[in-house]
Amino acid sequence: MIARAQVAVPEYADEVVRGLTSAHKTLPCKLFYDDRGSAIFEEITRLPEYYPTRTELEILRDRSREIAQAVGSPVSVVELGAGTATKTGTLLSAFTQRQMRLKYFPVDISPAALDDAKRRIKQECPLAVVKPVVADFAYGFSFLRDIPNRKVILYLGSSIGNFDWSDATTMLRNVREQLSSGDALLLGTDMVKGAEFLVPAYDDSRGITSEFNKNILVRLNREFGGDFNLSAFRHIAEWSPSRSRMEIFLESLRTQSVSLKSLGLTIRFANGERIHTENSYKYTTEMVEQMLCVSGFKLERSWFDRRRWFGLHLARA
Ligand code: AVJ
Repeated sequence: MIARAQVAVPEYADEVVRGLTSAHKTLPCKLFYDDRGSAIFEEITRLPEYYPTRTELEILRDRSREIAQAVGSPVSVVELGAGTATKTGTLLSAFTQRQMRLKYFPVDISPAALDDAKRRIKQECPLAVVKPVVADFAYGFSFLRDIPNRKVILYLGSSIGNFDWSDATTMLRNVREQLSSGDALLLGTDMVKGAEFLVPAYDDSRGITSEFNKNILVRLNREFGGDFNLSAFRHIAEWSPSRSRMEIFLESLRTQSVSLKSLGLTIRFANGERIHTENSYKYTTEMVEQMLCVSGFKLERSWFDRRRWFGLHLARA
């Protein structure tokens, strides 16, 4: 534990201190998503360069009947990290066309997002009964035990891509442990493609992703009494083919010191020194199959867009 100033500081303070005082500076990417960061992310999903959201939505729209048929007859659809459930409506409608009773359990850490999700799904798919679940995955997946009937778990948007291999497989294994054999998982993954498409998706011409990345510093300034000068850092997005991931950094544009008053911390930056803020893994079909297999799932079928840029994978517990 770190000795702290008297004022209450958020529970991720230790992670921030550890990240900024280590040899390779890092910050956890979950810090992106305060209210402003979530709004900027929404804006990213509409950028011409950011293909993942619209590509996944296109697959869901074009193939929803096939997907529903392949899943079989779940009675409960559980969406992990549902947010406001902007992509789920068409898929749910495809399920309700095949059967009468369908319950939809959007799971998220944000109650406000879940209210939106409920309203949206009631509109788009009136036959589904919506039962929001507020949960933080850091505390595990035992809430899945309380959800009755045959299940299909949705984990969309390549959210899995923020995790290293071992964290991703641990998470999937923890989900698998709460399921019964025959239950299904529908996993969305961004696929490996040329750097000429990947890099602009994470370094757009309007600088929205840069704003998203720098919002982490805005947040540290506000929540920890920091004095980060936003214009003294630049946004960097690099494709690492050997690690099969996009790597996102904030790079110091000069030698400088930054203090975080409520943590009693002063951090020195060399000119060109970076803070690693995010990884976004890109997958081959072999990687997806392997990841599911070691987590106790069997890959049954995958759907892709025409360019094979994004994949939706149906796996069975
Ligand atoms: C929400 C993790 C899927 O990795 O593409 C977008 C986050 N970061 N632009 C991604 C993100 C920068 C996004 N995920």
